[in-house]
This record gives sequence, structure tokens and C-alpha cells, in this order.
Amino acid sequence: MPTAPSLWQLAGVEARAFRGGDGRNVTSRLVFKTGMLIALGAFDRRVHPSGQAVCLLAPRWPRLVLSTTGAVVIAGLIGAVLAPLGWALLVLTALVFLPLAVRATMALPAKRRLGRIGPPGRRRHIYVHSVASTRPGAGAELMTLLAGEADQKGWLLVLDAENENLGAYYLRFGFARGGAVSMPDGTVRVRMWRQPQDGRGRC
Ligand SMILES: CC(C)(COP(=O)(O)OP(=O)(O)OC[C@H]1O[C@@H](n2cnc3c(N)ncnc32)[C@H](O)[C@@H]1OP(=O)(O)O)[C@@H](O)C(=O)NCCC(=O)NCCS
Repeated sequence: MPTAPSLWQLAGVEARAFRGGDGRNVTSRLVFKTGMLIALGAFDRRVHPSGQAVCLLAPRWPRLVLSTTGAVVIAGLIGAVLAPLGWALLVLTALVFLPLAVRATMALPAKRRLGRIGPPGRRRHIYVHSVASTRPGAGAELMTLLAGEADQKGWLLVLDAENENLGAYYLRFGFARGGAVSMPDGTVRVRMWRQPQDGRGRC
């Protein structure tokens, strides 16, 4: 029986898929993988049986709060005993989180515009992000499995495709295109959602 991939292996899948780890830049690869490792641990996720495709769903708040508190306490203890190591940890944390926080803050108005596009009404939904695949077809199989789970559990799925081509890709799994918004970095996000369907494909 194949063993489940470790979080570090899944972070590698994300890094390769999003090219966040360009082999020539070891530091950026390490920083990207560390950030993904934290996200993979803190968010609910779905993984393809091959371990070559993964996506993140909702954050698991208790785990997020616990791991953040734990990390702060451990860093504080290490800093008290061995100051240089404490500083190194602080710098690494800043390297991982500061760029993310700056980008997220700058993108807030665009995110609000995406939210206004839909889905219509204020129904609870499951947001799908960081869909990544390093084996052609594994991503599609994972999305098909997720769509099946969503139908079974009555989930409304929402995602923001990273460009129009990917928007067309998600149509294959029953997502509808809401509209597009330009982001501060010049890219486009396409708001899409998928209503749960019954066995006959009806919403
Ligand atoms: C998108 C993705 C998960 C699909 O995985 P998959 O179903 O296993 O299949 P493939 O990798 O063969 O890609 C499927 C299609 O998406 C297209 N595609 C993949 N990444 C793309 C991107 N970043 N921009 C535009 N198109 C993309 C491929 O060209 C392919 O098109 P085709 O079916 O017309 O040949 C995977 O390609 C991936 O990890 N891409 C990089 C990360 C990414 O952009 N994720 C989506 C964020 S919304």
C-alpha cells in the first residue's frame, strides 16, 4: 500500500507547480516551501492518491492558533537560551510572512471586488485554493474527487482562477464563471463557483 506523502513532500509539489522554488535560488525555494508547509498543516486539504496533486480548503482555526502560539513560545524559549538562533528564527519568520502579508494587504481591495461578484446570496461556501499538480491529469482527478465530495455534502465551492485559461479549465468540473478582476501585480483573477449537484447533474 502506498504511504501517505509527508507535508514536506506536498510542499514540494506546490513549489514545483507554482515555480515558487526555482532550483537556481535555494533561499526562495526554502522560504516558499516553509510557507507552504505551514499552510498545509493549518488548512484542511485534499491530496491525490499519487501524492502528486494537492489543494487547500478552509483553515483549521484551532490548529492555526495552536501552531502559531507554539511557534512563538518555542522561538521565545530558544531566543532566551541562545540569542543568535532566536534572531535567525525571527529573520526566517519575517522572510516567510512579511512578503505574504504585504501582498495580501495590497490585494485587499481587489479581493473585495471579487467577493462582490459572487456567489450570489450569503450562503456558506468552501473556498478552494492552491490547486497544484506535478503529474498531468492528477489535478483533474483531484478536482473530480472534490466535486463528488461537494455534491455528497452539499458544499458550494468557490475559487479564484489565476487566469482566463485556468478559468476555462475549471469549467470542466462544473464551475461557473462569475467575472474577472485585475490584481495590483497586473495579473487577473477569475471568480468562479460550483453549486452542489444531484445525481442527474441538477443544482
Ligand atoms: C492547474 C493544474 C492544477 C492542473 O493540473 P492537471 O489537471 O493535473 O493537468 P495539467 O497540468 O496537464 O494541466 C491542465 C491544463 O491546464 C493548463 N494550465 C496549467 N497551469 C496553467 C496556468 N498556470 N495557466 C494557464 N493554464 C494552465 C495546462 O496547459 C493544461 O491545458 P490543456 O488541458 O488545454 O492541455 C496544474 O497544471 C498546476 O499545478 N498548475 C500550476 C499551478 C496553478 O496555476 N494552479 C492553479 C491555480 S488557480
